Amino acid sequence: MPNPFKPTAGKMPPILIGRENVVTDFAEGLENGAGAPSRLMLVSGQRGYGKTVLLVELARVALSYGWEVVRQTASPGMCERIVGALESHRPHVSEASIEPSIDIDGVAGAKLGHVSLEKTAALTVRDAIERRLKHLDDGKGILFTIDEAQAASTDEMVALATALQEVIGDEDLRDVPDERKHGVAFVFAGLPSVVDDIVNERVLTFLRRAVHHGLSDIPLPDVRNAYQSTVAESGLAIGSEDAMEAARASAGYPYMIQLVGYYMWQSAQRRRSHAIERCDVEQATADAAMVFLDAVCAPAYLGLTGAQQAFLRAMAPDWPQPSAVTEVARRSGKSVAWAAAYRKSLIDANVIDAPARGFVAYAIPHFGEYMERVTSADDGPRRMATR
Ligand SMILES: Nc1ncnc2c1ncn2[C@@H]1O[C@H](COP(=O)(O)OP(=O)(O)OP(=O)(O)O)[C@@H](O)[C@H]1O
Ligand SMILES: [Mg+2]
Repeated sequence: MPNPFKPTAGKMPPILIGRENVVTDFAEGLENGAGAPSRLMLVSGQRGYGKTVLLVELARVALSYGWEVVRQTASPGMCERIVGALESHRPHVSEASIEPSIDIDGVAGAKLGHVSLEKTAALTVRDAIERRLKHLDDGKGILFTIDEAQAASTDEMVALATALQEVIGDEDLRDVPDERKHGVAFVFAGLPSVVDDIVNERVLTFLRRAVHHGLSDIPLPDVRNAYQSTVAESGLAIGSEDAMEAARASAGYPYMIQLVGYYMWQSAQRRRSHAIERCDVEQATADAAMVFLDAVCAPAYLGLTGAQQAFLRAMAPDWPQPSAVTEVARRSGKSVAWAAAYRKSLIDANVIDAPARGFVAYAIPHFGEYMERVTSADDGPRRMATR
């Protein structure tokens, strides 16, 4: 039997734990027809909390209802790719009808006269959606999932939101009973900052109405149960206490759940044992933590500027307690204004959060352990130099 656990970004886990409410909410939205609130959803969560796999699951649900699905990851050109996707699976499409594409300063722009990027893109996305909807059976629709929404440009989000509202309006005007109308559903997923960015700062009133699900830690008893059934299904066994110990090691963090599961399964396999025992869980806890630091903490830290890194290092002596921002400034030998500026930039980058006024804490799980590693590496050469 291959290892059933899947510690890989975007890879569907053996059991999608603790997301039943989101999935049910979404399915009800499809059943309840046009205007159901959960046809417009925003999913937010830290890295590795399962946003991508949740989008995949919602896509699966939509397909099971006979809907079509367009999946996109936000990056420049998103609207253009959405139009491309809609056009590509049109059954009878001729080369000529693919135009007008969203050639911003080309075809469409010229045809429409002098219009802004948003307008051009919105018009074309709207056309593409409506053309596609015409091919669907009564009552069916299209689900759009947009991953990494925090990376979308305001222009493209506005274009998409505008197009979507217009499609909903046009569909409302169609002279058919509600149950025969076509539907559209949108699910956006992104880092927690997406909530402030798109919903507040950039003032997209439309998206403010989205049903918001913030993904958080999964309750440990649910993790334990999932461990027990996944392990049993793979032909091995694990006792309830050991499964609970493994759940505690994961801290309910979805990516960590897969890592711990993977390594405990592997450890038992290596011992040619049919049962995962305490020694396997202990081995897995150490292995998983190591991989986690390299796979999540290191890229997050190394992607920051020197000043941001200095701020994070100055927090390390306080960990696992939060740090006072004034103390971070003092330790760094900088002004409080310096600390305030980097505090904000690191909160925006989702690396720290503010548990109380004037305090900051690492927001990424295990980040404190990683910072201990970083700061002890800092001290190492210095000690040698003074010797
Ligand atoms: N509900 C869940 N139950 C169990 N495992 C999960 C769950 N959600 C995600 N995972 C596992 O966690 C890992 C990360 O999932 P995923 O890639 O979807 O996270 P993400 O939030 O999209 O991360 P990123 O922000 O880095 O893109 C994968 O290995 C996946 O199998
Ligand atoms: Mg993802």
